[in-house]
Amino acid sequence: MSEHRSTLDVIHGHISVRKFTDEPIADDLLQTLIEAGTRASTSSNMQAYTVISITEPDHKTHLAKLCADQQQIHQSAAFLACCADMHKLKLCNDMHDTESDFGITEAAVVAIVDTALVMQTIAIAAESVGLGICMIGAMRNHPHDVRDALQLPDHVFPLSGLCLGWPAEKREPKLRLPLDAIWHRERYRSDDELRELIQAYDGLMSAYFEEHGMHPTEPRWSAIMAQRTGGFPKRRNVGKLMREQGLNTQSD
Ligand SMILES: Cc1cc2nc3c(=O)[nH]c(=O)nc-3n(C[C@H](O)[C@H](O)[C@H](O)COP(=O)(O)O)c2cc1C
Repeated sequence: MSEHRSTLDVIHGHISVRKFTDEPIADDLLQTLIEAGTRASTSSNMQAYTVISITEPDHKTHLAKLCADQQQIHQSAAFLACCADMHKLKLCNDMHDTESDFGITEAAVVAIVDTALVMQTIAIAAESVGLGICMIGAMRNHPHDVRDALQLPDHVFPLSGLCLGWPAEKREPKLRLPLDAIWHRERYRSDDELRELIQAYDGLMSAYFEEHGMHPTEPRWSAIMAQRTGGFPKRRNVGKLMREQGLNTQSD
């Protein structure tokens, strides 16, 4: 456990940690963190999420391989599969002899937002006690295999992984976009303003890499994103699995 830090200090100190020591996380601490996650706001108290902790070594290795074999998953003390989950709500329908349409987009949005909030809340709780975290969107690289490995029932979708562990690396927090690019007042900013802010960020990132002796072939955020966003179609199975699980099945 680390010294006491304010919530704002914890938030501003965030980095994604990709190297962990081999020290385990005590089960009661893991319970405390997941319980803290459940304190996040949740749409109409639906709690449309499930968190599956994976600590058993062979199981974790199997999941890591499904998530691009990332070293931080292998090294993590606990790997959490954060799942968007309407299954428990479907059980409520069955218990009370009602029917709901879980296939409409709104149901999927509710579950995805709820799950993201619980995951981020667990992350902040973990960082507040000195743990490091790394979220793993690569959990959606082979979503069908992840579903099978975790035996997910209908209406449950593996949204993102979350690595937890004791950090074996320290870094300066990554620079973010200038706040004006995020915080608009009263109405959305013009593209001219946004382009200027993005270019300013490109300059800051280039200076940041230079200052830290890092020389990526492309330091400009806009250029990296211009490439990166072209990769969305690689995860076509995301929509396919969601529909197979009974979520987002309609074109409403
Ligand atoms: C939903 C989500 C999925 C992510 N997936 C991965 C991942 O698969 N592998 C990885 O190394 N980092 C992953 N990240 C971490 C981001 O790359 C990281 O948050 C971003 O580059 C900003 O860096 P920072 O967290 O150190 O500030 C993910 C982050 C989020 C929010």
